[in-house]
Amino acid sequence: MMDASPRSAHSIGTAVQRCIRPACGASFAIRERIYICQNCGGPLEIATPLPSANEAAALRARWRSRAGSLDPRDRSGVWRFREMLPFDDAAPIVTLAEGNTPLYDAPRCAEYSSVGALRLKHQGCNPTGSFKDTGMTTCVTQAVRLGARTVVCASTGNTSASLAAYAARAGLQCAILLPRGQITSSKLAQSMDYGAIVCEIDGNFDDCMRLIQEIADDPSIYLANSINPFRIEGQKTVAFELMEQCEWRVPDHVVVPGGNMGNCSALGKGFEEMRQMGLVDRLPKLSVIQAEGAAPLAQLFAGLKGQWKPDRAPIPEELTPVENPQTLATAIKIGSPVSWEKALRSVIRSHGQVIAVSEQEIADAKAMIGRDGIGCEPASATTVAGIRKLVAAGFIRSEESIVAILTGHLLKDPDYVSDYHRGTLSLRPDTKDRKTESRPIKGSFRNAPIQVAASKSAILEQLRRTNS
Ligand code: F0G
Repeated sequence: MMDASPRSAHSIGTAVQRCIRPACGASFAIRERIYICQNCGGPLEIATPLPSANEAAALRARWRSRAGSLDPRDRSGVWRFREMLPFDDAAPIVTLAEGNTPLYDAPRCAEYSSVGALRLKHQGCNPTGSFKDTGMTTCVTQAVRLGARTVVCASTGNTSASLAAYAARAGLQCAILLPRGQITSSKLAQSMDYGAIVCEIDGNFDDCMRLIQEIADDPSIYLANSINPFRIEGQKTVAFELMEQCEWRVPDHVVVPGGNMGNCSALGKGFEEMRQMGLVDRLPKLSVIQAEGAAPLAQLFAGLKGQWKPDRAPIPEELTPVENPQTLATAIKIGSPVSWEKALRSVIRSHGQVIAVSEQEIADAKAMIGRDGIGCEPASATTVAGIRKLVAAGFIRSEESIVAILTGHLLKDPDYVSDYHRGTLSLRPDTKDRKTESRPIKGSFRNAPIQVAASKSAILEQLRRTNS
């Protein structure tokens, strides 16, 4: 039988949507279908009354014990932490048993990055193969609670695959906007299979994002991009789950890829809430890694030149978008991230960093993750590439504890893997200028198939040669 939740419907009822900008701080009811502050246009977050600090030990035990329960809410690595979520027991939960993803040791990646140990939390082990599922379960549950008939998103492929699946579970119509020709075939196939209306747009992700926000003005439509604070609520539980896996010993560093910046915002919120409640005594340094050709936040961060201590300088009000973002890590091919303010706040609070890595660095780091027996998509590999760089720069010390968040599964982009190992990977910038040359990526750790005669001796001879 389910244990009784200690949260009353009354305390959930006091959760609000609040503008994160200190100069505004306006609050809105939890059932208002809004995505940005109606007062100043700033980003919204959910402010939930947190359980009190003297409940911390009991909560840890309860969350752990739920992992062995058969209740569908407990099978979910998101709803297992429901005391921290702005939903009461009557919420019409839409779940695919998301979360509860593994935390792996990665000794080869550690050596590659010149650190003693490195752990990888693999969010690609979620039901649709990416971290988006942890936020989509809460977002689609909120859509059902609000009586929406249609859910929509713009996407580089993973958000759309995830939304399509959760909408199908909930029996909602789902429409997705994708930049034509810029989504991997695996991600596109998922959305088609889950029955979404797939709209391919002539333009890039940022164009899709602008358009979808206009469409979401219609009251029957609910927007499921990470600008929606209910997405962030689900995704923040990854921080709780990670701390449970770390036996509540806070790692020195948590490193994430950066695209539209929902993931960093969510982890930052999760850690901050745990600190407020006394579940942890400090924050890990939260660092974001972007691909060089799509790195607007890294550029802004570099411009702050260390003046980012919260008491010395406020968060800047504007981010200069990258007009024509380019990277083979298509998941993070984003020039104008919607949640940059929230993400930067989390980085600043935790004394983390935002940096960019090259296409070559991403590709080699991805191959190294593969050598540890762990398969991720290119965007996820920015983390290991970034850690290597941050170690070289002296920001991460070799004896510190480090967790990288892998965001998507290898099978999300098998063509990239195959091209790397065959030595045919190259970045062809999408531009109308025919003269723009493609830039080859070296297969530094390539492992191409070999042609071998169909005989026992030929195969054994090949094994001997490869061993020597
Ligand atoms: N890694 C993967 C595999 C992603 O799909 C994304 C984002 C990110 C990292 C970046 O996370 O946006 O929270 O900073 N994909 C979005 C999408 C944009 O539409 O699937 P973020």
